[in-house]
Amino acid sequence: MTKVITFASPKGGVGKSSLCINTAAYFFAASNLVTVIDTDPQMSSHDWIVESDDPLLQKVKTFHISSEEEIAHFISETDSDIVCLDMEGNLYNSMRFCLAIADLVVVPCRPSRDDLVGLAWVKKLSEAAFSEHPDSNARVVALMNGIEPGSDVFFHIKQQITNDGMEVFNNFLSQSIEIAESNINRVSVINFLGESSKEILKIGQEMELFLER
Ligand SMILES: Nc1ncnc2c1ncn2[C@@H]1O[C@H](COP(=O)(O)OP(=O)(O)O)[C@@H](O)[C@H]1O
Ligand SMILES: [Mg+2]
Repeated sequence: MTKVITFASPKGGVGKSSLCINTAAYFFAASNLVTVIDTDPQMSSHDWIVESDDPLLQKVKTFHISSEEEIAHFISETDSDIVCLDMEGNLYNSMRFCLAIADLVVVPCRPSRDDLVGLAWVKKLSEAAFSEHPDSNARVVALMNGIEPGSDVFFHIKQQITNDGMEVFNNFLSQSIEIAESNINRVSVINFLGESSKEILKIGQEMELFLER
């Protein structure tokens, strides 16, 4: 059965597209059929895949779709095991639907006050979306991104998010030149030798656990 992972945040630049692309590559490398649906008019992740010569990303299907009806139709027909939905930084109302149809909503969050406020916003919007779509059963989980390697900021912020009643990934993505360059070079970091690759593998494994539950 197809599993839908939605990458959502009201903020731009928190890492939705970077995590969407690397998650797609992770699941493809783990023998799944994978599609990325980019709902963002900027088409960051769609273009990333279309322009990529990364052998993993070349096997990930991608579509730029922004209407609810077309997304619903695509998901009802697809043979993909995993659909990664990349959203724009502005969670306008019609996109509530992308929260409601998800099995897992990943909310990337940098260690900043504004991003923490954004988390609460997605949580609230998800609750509204779920009440409109009674069949929805998504887990909404924060994922820390842009952590300075070696700092303990992750543990402080994780505690704060947990205290605010939201789930947080145990794994996080550090601030890294590899992630920045992978965007410029249109590749995933899955087969890189550095830390980012290891972090993405751990994040992907944790996503699998969330999807099983
Ligand atoms: N962990 C990270 N380390 C370094 N650069 C990052 C990291 N995460 C994201 N970036 C960079 O930040 C910018 C915004 O990331 P992006 O994934 O496009 O965010 P969003 O889709 O939420 O707007 C991109 O240039 C990306 O390469
Ligand atoms: Mg984006």
